[in-house]
Amino acid sequence: MKYKIVCPCLFGLESVLKQEIIRMGGDEISVSDGRVSFIGGVEMIARANICLRTAERVLVCLGEFCATSFTELFDQTYALPFEQIIGRKDRFPVQGWSLDSKLRSVPDCQAIIKKAAAKRLGAKYGAAWLEETGALCQIRFSIRKDNVAVMIDASGEGLHKRGYRENANIAPIRETLAAGIIDIARIYDDSYLCDPFCGSGTILIEGAMHAMRIAPGLRRRFACEDWGATPRRVFNDERQRAFGLIRRDASFEAQGYDIDPAAVELTLQNAEKAGVASRVHAAIQPVSELSIDRERAAVICNPPYGERMLEIKAANEVYRQMGRVMRRLNARKYVISPSDDFELLYGQPAERRRKLYNGMIRCQLFCYGGRTERHKSVQAR
Ligand SMILES: C[S@@+](CC[C@H](N)C(=O)[O-])C[C@H]1O[C@@H](n2cnc3c(N)ncnc32)[C@H](O)[C@@H]1O
Repeated sequence: MKYKIVCPCLFGLESVLKQEIIRMGGDEISVSDGRVSFIGGVEMIARANICLRTAERVLVCLGEFCATSFTELFDQTYALPFEQIIGRKDRFPVQGWSLDSKLRSVPDCQAIIKKAAAKRLGAKYGAAWLEETGALCQIRFSIRKDNVAVMIDASGEGLHKRGYRENANIAPIRETLAAGIIDIARIYDDSYLCDPFCGSGTILIEGAMHAMRIAPGLRRRFACEDWGATPRRVFNDERQRAFGLIRRDASFEAQGYDIDPAAVELTLQNAEKAGVASRVHAAIQPVSELSIDRERAAVICNPPYGERMLEIKAANEVYRQMGRVMRRLNARKYVISPSDDFELLYGQPAERRRKLYNGMIRCQLFCYGGRTERHKSVQAR
């Protein structure tokens, strides 16, 4: 059986996620704001969960339709094949959102979708009452401009939860965003990556996992592993496949620095948990002392950002220090910041800028240093 598989992502990462899905073997890919969809069988539901680095979650779409009244919403929801995924005893809570639509009341839509799904399942299973004690099949709906999509969440916990970062310092970058920047920066298996503000080590760890082709979901479970529709064998095969793709011969190395000793410790602990401790190094050092004497170096970081007056002053001073040392480095540089004054303080306009969102915070990725030789030759072909 083929499903429409929907993967939401952070705004600005749609093209990166699309490329990931192409590489993964997804068919009939379509892109819209904040989501990429494709068609695939049950093995692709498993593969997407295990392998995608920039998707926030994996949803199985049961159907899409237009509805402007509660009656239309009920009738069209009732027509959807919930029983393809939701078993007789499974739990199916409903959650969703509505934007620019006639059906504005989310609690009402939630109740109607629940009622329609329950009626459909009751009829299919010949049961007047559904006990809902089994696997979690979280129904998620979206209503945008009267277009309704009804989906079931195959991931459970968001895919940014890789399992290596239980302890995070203040203001860690989201793992999916870090992975997106690593992709944009074209980190290779022989790259040298440096993060002068490593915090909990997210950028370094995502870089190492990308370079070594370690699938981000190898160390966790997904809601759909309990579904009757996704046999255990499929997940075993996909995990085997992902293990087989790991590049242990990659010469990639990452170096992190931070002024906070606890952050350095956390980076090393998290790298250990992620299985990349041999590639990720970290030390205490202020950015003002940064130097790099390596080939193929890339610096990627999200420096501190101030929200109160005193913090803003301190963060601005850090940006000035960054400019003084980083402008001289022979490395490609990628800095993500929500500050509109970053380039001014850093003292150099970026060669390229890209709008990205860290959750709900609008940021820019400031890119310095030309495209890599390898990238140029790939483009020229
Ligand atoms: C926004 S956090 C980085 C978060 C990190 N990317 C993560 O995912 O956990 C900024 C980090 O910069 C460090 N920092 C602040 N000023 C610094 C300086 N002058 N030199 C080096 N590190 C500094 C802080 O201790 C903090 O860990």
